[in-house]
Amino acid sequence: MSVRRLDPVQPESFAFTPGNLVWAKETLAKYPEGRQASAVIPILWRAQEQIGGWITRPAMEYVARMLDMSFIRVYEIATFYTMFQLSPVGRKAHVQLCGTTPCMLRGAEELKEVLRRRIHREPHRLSANGNFSWEEVECLGACVNAPMVLISKDTYEDLTPETLERVLDEIAAGREPKPGPQIDRQFSAPEGGPTTLIDPSLYDGGGAGEREQASATTAARQVPPSAAGKPDTARTETAPAVHSPSPEKTSEAERSRQAVSDRAEAHATPEKVPSRVARAAREADMSVVKQPPPRAVEGSEPPFDNQSKK
Ligand code: FES
Repeated sequence: MSVRRLDPVQPESFAFTPGNLVWAKETLAKYPEGRQASAVIPILWRAQEQIGGWITRPAMEYVARMLDMSFIRVYEIATFYTMFQLSPVGRKAHVQLCGTTPCMLRGAEELKEVLRRRIHREPHRLSANGNFSWEEVECLGACVNAPMVLISKDTYEDLTPETLERVLDEIAAGREPKPGPQIDRQFSAPEGGPTTLIDPSLYDGGGAGEREQASATTAARQVPPSAAGKPDTARTETAPAVHSPSPEKTSEAERSRQAVSDRAEAHATPEKVPSRVARAAREADMSVVKQPPPRAVEGSEPPFDNQSKK
């Protein structure tokens, strides 16, 4: 990006038109008292539109007085953001070409050659008829459709030298070219149309029953055969309840519910002992006994009780 300086040729003065003045006062009224400086960008933008696409020094001074700001504060904003132009721009279009890495890798250099040939060898210079100008800027946020240009408030994406020339031809002829991707895709969707979620029954509800049955069968398959007799709780975590009216599906559902219930039982055991182990312990009358905390001996340091700290 080139150094941004004010144009050496400046007009004598600037003032908002009556209509823009009314708009500016209404805009300022939206901000809390004492915070009118926060409106500097929309006010500068309106001044740029009134001037014809660029912002002059008298306009910056006018805006600074209106917002009770020092001139340098307005100057640093206008010279920082590339949305503000500091020199006259083309009457029909000022083309901002993204030259950041993704666009550069996808052909921004070739696009720049088109702009240099059709408009001017140097950026920020007017074409011979005064209708066009161009510059290179940093990322404009459409990297997914690189390479791209911004013209006025529209972006033109997925460009090639040929499609950029076509866009410029349309503007030169007084027509409005279609903004956005210049290839066959919607926004940043795949070229040629969607490649996923393309089954119409996903959207009209027609496939809902089959999908429910399919997902129930899949869930039931995840329940091991042992779940019917001695449940293996370590392998039943993914088995949800099954809602199927057929007898076959009903028995599968029962096995699934049994597995879930065994799992809940295991988690409900205070010592978090798996149910198989708990059952074996009960059968052998060897239930797990919780150890009491150690007793303090009179006159000694109280023992550190890990359990009670939790
Ligand atoms: S790199 Fe070009 S739009 Fe982001």
